[in-house]
Amino acid sequence: MRNRIPLSKVDVDNISVYSLFSKLGKKVLRPGGKPFSREILSYLDVFEKDVVEFAPGPGATTLLISKLNPKSYIGIDIDKDACNKLSKKYPNYKFINSKAHENNIESESKDFIIVEAMLSLNNNVDKKLIIKEANRILRKGGCFAIHDMFYKNNLSDETIECSRDEVSNIFRQKVYPIKEQEWKELLLENGFEIIAIKDKEREKSMPLKLIKDEGIFRALLIIIKIIFNKQIKKRMKEMKTSITQKNQYLRAFYIVLKKK
Ligand SMILES: C[S@@+](CC[C@H](N)C(=O)[O-])C[C@H]1O[C@@H](n2cnc3c(N)ncnc32)[C@H](O)[C@@H]1O
Repeated sequence: MRNRIPLSKVDVDNISVYSLFSKLGKKVLRPGGKPFSREILSYLDVFEKDVVEFAPGPGATTLLISKLNPKSYIGIDIDKDACNKLSKKYPNYKFINSKAHENNIESESKDFIIVEAMLSLNNNVDKKLIIKEANRILRKGGCFAIHDMFYKNNLSDETIECSRDEVSNIFRQKVYPIKEQEWKELLLENGFEIIAIKDKEREKSMPLKLIKDEGIFRALLIIIKIIFNKQIKKRMKEMKTSITQKNQYLRAFYIVLKKK
């Protein structure tokens, strides 16, 4: 997850998709893009509230939240460089470099927690610990929002197992997405009720999605970096083909929950 090595010296074929996109300067790394993040925030009235973000990464949602003037903000990420960069950019916010479920935040002290494109990178034991941690930190009635991906309910275990291996291979990082129904069970079992849920196809069209997420200027810079690096171009093509094939199984979703 380090970001200090320049792109020219990076082993493009083998680094994780998250590290590669970060190096390209991509800020939005979630399956439903910025539109889903904006929709989530329309459910959370964060003005003058205490907010925690698990895994802010490059900070695209931190920026959206900061514009809504929360009373306090804490970001928790295992990526030290991401935490350092965000600490410099937002001196009034706190960034903790640790696993989301290993923090010293006081129990029942926060109003909102948001986590995007992180839980499926964690195995089911850690997913549960993170969800329990969210429940511990939130005040009663506080909201927890997840933006991630799920497998369609009708798929067999064998198909899912196979798909997980393929996605992990493409991402060069182990991933653990679960079925829509499994997400719901996991969240309901751990003290939450559902306020809103929405899913959509993960977006395929790189240039369009890039412009929507990053804005035209940053999108152009990223496209130029891709065009002039044969290895990156090859990796992007591989990912695009895989996303097109995997979209029949995996969907982007968000879920907004209330602590009971
Ligand atoms: C794909 S990026 C998503 C970043 C950002 N949320 C976004 O949607 O653009 C995944 C992020 O999750 C962080 N991460 C993964 N597992 C974590 C954990 N258990 N605790 C905290 N951060 C974690 C990574 O360091 C990385 O910043």
